[in-house]
Amino acid sequence: MHSARYEFDGRNGQHERIDFLTNKEKARSKNKTAIAIGVLVAVLVVAAVVAFLIWLFVFKENDDPTASSRRKPAVQLFSGHMKLLNQPYNQNYEDTSSPEFMDLAKKLESQLENHYQSDELLKEFYTKSMVTAFSEGVVAYYWSQFDIPVEELELVPEFSEERILEALEAGIQQSRSVQPDHIQIREITASMTDPRMARTPNAKECFFTLEATEEDQTFTSPGFPTAYPSRSRCQWQIRASEENVITVSFPFFHIEDDCSDDFVYIYDSLSPDESQAITKKCGQRPPTNPLEVVSSGNIMLINMITDGEVQRPGFNAVYKALPHPSVQKCGGVLTNAKGVISSPQHPSFYPPAMDCKWTIKVPSGQKVRLKFTMFRMKEPGVDVRVCHKDYVEALGNKYCGELSSLSLTSTTNEIIVNFHSDESFTDKGFMAEYSAFDPQNPCPNEFACFSGMCIAKELKCDGWNDCGDMSDEIKCSCGTDQFACNNGLCKPKLWICDRVNDCGDNSDEKACSCENNEWRCRNGQCMSQGVVCDGKMDCVDGSDEASCETSPGICSEFSFKCANGECVNKVNAECDRIDDCADKSDESFCDCGTRPYKLNRIVGGQNAELGEWPWQVSLHFQTYGHSCGASILSEKWLLSASHCFVTQSQENILPSNWQSYSGMQDQYKHDDVQRRSIHRIVPHPEYNMMTFDYDVALLELSEPLEFTNSIRPICLPSSSHVFPAGMSCWVTGWGALREGARAAQLLQKVSVKIINDTVCNTVTEGQVTSRMMCSGHLSGGMDACQGDSGGPLSCFEESGRWFQAGIVSWGEGCARRMKPGVYSRVTKLREWIKKETGI
Ligand code: ARG
Repeated sequence: MHSARYEFDGRNGQHERIDFLTNKEKARSKNKTAIAIGVLVAVLVVAAVVAFLIWLFVFKENDDPTASSRRKPAVQLFSGHMKLLNQPYNQNYEDTSSPEFMDLAKKLESQLENHYQSDELLKEFYTKSMVTAFSEGVVAYYWSQFDIPVEELELVPEFSEERILEALEAGIQQSRSVQPDHIQIREITASMTDPRMARTPNAKECFFTLEATEEDQTFTSPGFPTAYPSRSRCQWQIRASEENVITVSFPFFHIEDDCSDDFVYIYDSLSPDESQAITKKCGQRPPTNPLEVVSSGNIMLINMITDGEVQRPGFNAVYKALPHPSVQKCGGVLTNAKGVISSPQHPSFYPPAMDCKWTIKVPSGQKVRLKFTMFRMKEPGVDVRVCHKDYVEALGNKYCGELSSLSLTSTTNEIIVNFHSDESFTDKGFMAEYSAFDPQNPCPNEFACFSGMCIAKELKCDGWNDCGDMSDEIKCSCGTDQFACNNGLCKPKLWICDRVNDCGDNSDEKACSCENNEWRCRNGQCMSQGVVCDGKMDCVDGSDEASCETSPGICSEFSFKCANGECVNKVNAECDRIDDCADKSDESFCDCGTRPYKLNRIVGGQNAELGEWPWQVSLHFQTYGHSCGASILSEKWLLSASHCFVTQSQENILPSNWQSYSGMQDQYKHDDVQRRSIHRIVPHPEYNMMTFDYDVALLELSEPLEFTNSIRPICLPSSSHVFPAGMSCWVTGWGALREGARAAQLLQKVSVKIINDTVCNTVTEGQVTSRMMCSGHLSGGMDACQGDSGGPLSCFEESGRWFQAGIVSWGEGCARRMKPGVYSRVTKLREWIKKETGI
């Protein structure tokens, strides 16, 4: 029993020995065992506690992502610049390894440190300050870092720019009176800065100081043109001599699309100071829309930050110095009858901190019309109703943001236009044409809009807002072929009940055949509401079940058919980035219908940009040059119209008489264009030369295309795809600009609306078959024309992809009123395309 006590309570061995044992030997050996067991148990207990604690704090914490991110210490970084008063400029300050630089930098850094001492909070978390550069003036550039540990993270919001500035200014005030030998600091700034942009001035890695001269010089991102490394932090400090500004253009620029991972940030300063940012960019830019920036002074800072897994080629850049006066010169008094004004350095980004004033003065009795052909002055965080940063001001109004149509008319024979850019963020600016006109007859032989714009007389009261301010559509007495909307507008009667709210107040869609509580089938049939998605086909065309989450077993012409035979009753299920078919066949073969280039919207004109329609192809016939259009379906297949090949002449059907050009924009420029001969022409066997029914042909190329940024396929819609009436799509081609005119040199684009089939049939006097569809504008003016045939009608879907709805086929004349373009309906030809190409 007692020995049993030993075993249970070894730690009391001494007591045991004294109280109960008589045999010393026995007692000693028993005692040893007891100690060993005791130590072992103790170690085990301690180990278990330690293991539990480790699990609790290390592993358990990490299970919860919010907890772990909340527990990361925070780095608060502020950067800015300051003027040094009692300090003569020394050229050696520009060399960060010179003793002069180091000496002054160190002095300033310790002064900054002292200034933060006046603030209890800043003092506690201050880590260091770094002076990174000096420029004439004398201006010093710096950053200061504060590290806030995990336990104090709730203090982070207190680290504001205001607090930093307050502390610095208080410190500066104080030291001015107390220590007169200090460097005198004035006009200090501080902006909260991404800590990844803080660099030490003598950093070895990816840090460059460049001197801009009148000559072009270049630099590139690391790893260019193969790929930039991930996690790079690069910085280029660029300087020019005094009285110069710096321009940097990027002939090639391709950074990852997501700016939160990788980006290039450009500053009008030598500090990464947001208040002096020129721009932040990522993505890919086409050669027709290069990035080009200008500084306001003789310094510029470029930062490149990459983080993500995705690596892109990067950029190459050309920089040079421009004499300050030549850039700063803008505005003036203009007295010509017409001319053009634009933002400084247009089409490059305008420089920060500029003001220009144009006074356009025409002979008395006349007035001035000003039409902006391009306007883009976008800045983060700007309310375009106030335009408190960069703006154009005219006639008492300020304009900013991106404007597609801006036309102004003066009230007298003079108009003053002011341009203002502040210190941060610039953009492409604007371009405007001005002209004098006679107010007695502002638009000879045309209709004068309130805005002063002139439009063709026929466009008045045609149901379309051609003026942009509706002035051509008010005070109209509706004609016999027109419907009088409740709001006073007139619209063609044909538009009543076409499911498009043409009036704007929906009055053209109100009194349609079905009652309020009824469902209208796509073929116009009226049904009770209950038929929708009840799992039964009630409308003859099945449209009541076409867009239901689940209508199992229903397979109508509106259902998407999966490869395994399953039917999906969802509108436009293919390539919408959602797997609808169990076998995922609705999302396979979806590498189509995207355009990689970031495009700048050019307002007004209808010239397409390079890479804007990468699936557009130009087909050249013999020595006649461009004759028809086509679209890219795959590396080997093009889609076009039968009537280009099946004609009276046997020549047209011969593949060797044709050449295809992909990646083209200008018919006279062939760089990066891929020319392919045609191996085989497959016209639709049911193509009818008289009626243009089945006007579709497939072209097999003799060599596959190599896809690039400006050569890519468009998505083909499944046969159940719906392009609803009223949808805006684009038709593109090098066809004639006017009826009877020659083909265009530059690729053209026109926005057209899908027209309801009943209307289409009426306006074409019953000439359309179910393989055709109308698209255009019944008011005329915008349409495809001779030479566009075979080209695509491209429609952008919410899923972010372009689908080809039609093939340019025929029309009565071009752009005539009530005569829209007629297109081959791709959905109806889809099965045949698949049969012939496997696509
Ligand atoms: N058939 C014409 C051609 O060969 C295209 C006609 C398109 N016409 C129209 N008004 N949309 O190029």
